[in-house]
Amino acid sequence: MGYQKTEETGQLFQSSQENFFKFSNFRRRFHIRSLFYFISIFSLGFFVCLYITFGWQKGGGDPITVSQSLPSYSNYFNTTVTTTKTEISEKSEKSEIQNDSKYQDDCSLPVFDPWDETIKPFMVEDTKMKYCNKNFKPFTELVNGTFRVVQEKEGRTCKGRCHTLPDLTAPFKVTNWFSPGPTDCEFLEAVCWEKGQFGEKEVYGWIHTQIVPNKVPKPPIEKSEHPDVFVFVMDSLASGMAKRSLPKMLEFMKTKLQAVDFPYLSQVGTRSQVNAVPLWFGKQVEAGTMKGGKRMEADWTEDEYCKHYLDDKPNMFRDFLDAGYTTNYLDNWIDQTLTHNPICKGFQHFHTNHTFFPLTHILERTVLWVTKQSLKGTQICREVHQATLEYFDQFVRAYPDRPKFTWSWFVHLAHEKLAGPDRADPHFLEFFQNNLEIFDDAFVIFTADHGFRAGSFEFYKTKIGAFEKHNPFLQISVPKKYRDNGILEVMRENAKRLQSHYDTRATILDILKYQPSSQFTDRATLKIPDEKGNSLLRQQPLTPRNCEHLPIPQQYCICQSKSTDLTADAKLCERLGRSFLAHINSEIDNFKLGGLCHKFDIQIVLELDLHASSHASKTTYHISVKTQHPAQFETLITEDKETKKLTFDQIERLDRYGSTADCSKPVHFTNLCFCKTR
Ligand SMILES: *[C@@H]1O[C@H](CO)[C@@H](O)[C@H](O)[C@H]1NC(C)=O
Ligand SMILES: *[C@@H]1O[C@H](CO)[C@@H](O)[C@H](O)[C@H]1NC(C)=O
Ligand SMILES: *[C@@H]1O[C@H](CO)[C@@H](O)[C@H](O)[C@H]1NC(C)=O
Ligand SMILES: *[C@@H]1O[C@H](CO)[C@@H](O)[C@H](O)[C@H]1NC(C)=O
Repeated sequence: MGYQKTEETGQLFQSSQENFFKFSNFRRRFHIRSLFYFISIFSLGFFVCLYITFGWQKGGGDPITVSQSLPSYSNYFNTTVTTTKTEISEKSEKSEIQNDSKYQDDCSLPVFDPWDETIKPFMVEDTKMKYCNKNFKPFTELVNGTFRVVQEKEGRTCKGRCHTLPDLTAPFKVTNWFSPGPTDCEFLEAVCWEKGQFGEKEVYGWIHTQIVPNKVPKPPIEKSEHPDVFVFVMDSLASGMAKRSLPKMLEFMKTKLQAVDFPYLSQVGTRSQVNAVPLWFGKQVEAGTMKGGKRMEADWTEDEYCKHYLDDKPNMFRDFLDAGYTTNYLDNWIDQTLTHNPICKGFQHFHTNHTFFPLTHILERTVLWVTKQSLKGTQICREVHQATLEYFDQFVRAYPDRPKFTWSWFVHLAHEKLAGPDRADPHFLEFFQNNLEIFDDAFVIFTADHGFRAGSFEFYKTKIGAFEKHNPFLQISVPKKYRDNGILEVMRENAKRLQSHYDTRATILDILKYQPSSQFTDRATLKIPDEKGNSLLRQQPLTPRNCEHLPIPQQYCICQSKSTDLTADAKLCERLGRSFLAHINSEIDNFKLGGLCHKFDIQIVLELDLHASSHASKTTYHISVKTQHPAQFETLITEDKETKKLTFDQIERLDRYGSTADCSKPVHFTNLCFCKTR
């Protein structure tokens, strides 16, 4: 697949159309049924072997000898039961619990070595970009408002067409193909054709972007008082992953921008959308239970945040526009965060001045195979995050003297593979280096929505894995001119404590609304009306920052607590396993999906742990089960000791469910569904 060959044939891309369709959709790769079964069976097998060999268990430290049996629920289901007497040598997962006596937070936060031995087996190199052509140069460009061919060749013709979006939910307008020349088109699909034996064929595709600045009056706010605010979200990036995968970028941020790491950020919901709503709207949309048993109600029902357009709800994008900022939203997946899973309406009209959405639309909906290949990464070394960074560059250069707010959401890099973001380290490093002056004048918030969710069961059995599942990355740098006013000191103090997305949100609102009047020198605790969080740029209240006080559902709590492995208690496994499955089945019925989805039966209880609880009358268990129609679910179950009533927290489906839940889409999409027919 070398460069030589592509040069000779003059063709950019070699895979067949067929191949392309097989792998077209980013997520569909994981939907292939056989692969799905294979992985499920393989991982179960692997776990069983591992379990027998190491007898892994939680807690302890020194090598000990114990009698271990497999999760005895398997007994009941006539699976082979092996009782082994093995020497357990729990691999040393070095973690110091830090204890800052200044705060009575009562939350033990671990310090992991991100390169701990236990994580190494899971750091599988992502070879996606290994054989891509690094030297490829585009045949066309769009610079200074002109679309040009920069590599001419006999017999090759190149044309472009414009994709415009009149409004966020309006149909796209696509022009006819036109020849190179001046254009004000912001999203241009360029394609080249060559005459071959079988007629003309496409040999090249590219998506060019440019920002044509809107000629509107400059708002009466000045950049000197209202610095740019740039938020970058890398989907699924855990703190530890960032340290492993993006070392060059992080080193640069630390040394050049004096960025502060907040290693104890907790997510507040399971998936992207239910963490985005808290960040953008300040509303909790996933109900849950707090540590200690207090119920956390959702602020908005699914009907409210999903079935209605969100334009009229107060939100961060609106806040920045109202203040006079020029804004851009760069989400690089067509299933934009707000509209995805379940299928939701999101915004009806543009919520920012510019949006990257048209590019994702061209990339994922165009009929032209060559265009799609240009951002797949495997042929030429270019992916959609690079196009996103380029669009960011164009935006900041188009409005040099206006205060700007951008929110960039990188969906694909870290989502599927633990080492996935490795390949982006050089890209982000270069991006921050090239824009150092711009970032020296801005607030830069680099964060993630949730921790790493696509790991295997074995990964989450390690202490680091369990932690990284719910510990999204967060790092903040402030404009150079404010770095000496005590802001960094207070940020570093706050970095030692538990934080949530609500605190990130409060920080952004503080930058926008409250700090400018004091030139960013106000460190006094501030309660922002109707907000759940506390700005990281100020002293946070002394109230304990733990999962009994902060709005974090207990299942995402990263404060370490003792737990006791109960998988050997067959009776309890059976009772709780059955109740959990009955609960899942009733949820499916509640969504009126009983006819479409299989009823689940238990195959094995993979994990059952008793959580230490401060609550005298309730017991909380963490349970993870594998079902007959191969799926894997996890939740926390709280039992009232007196009434024996069970309450269930948010259910997470842990296997790669792919398209197995798709049939639920027309009624109510839920990943709890395993479709009877697909
Ligand atoms: C286990 O196997 C025995 C004999 O094969 C059978 O009678 C019994 O019903 C099985 N139990 C379950 C729970 O499948
Ligand atoms: C942390 O410090 C407090 C007060 O010094 C002490 O009571 C508590 O046991 C410590 N916690 C841990 C986990 O060391
Ligand atoms: C685009 O414009 C800039 C500034 O006017 C100029 O320096 C640059 O050479 C131009 N590039 C092209 C390809 O015309
Ligand atoms: C951005 O959008 C706001 C609100 O619609 C508008 O007032 C402002 O003029 C726009 N700015 C630019 C540069 O387009």
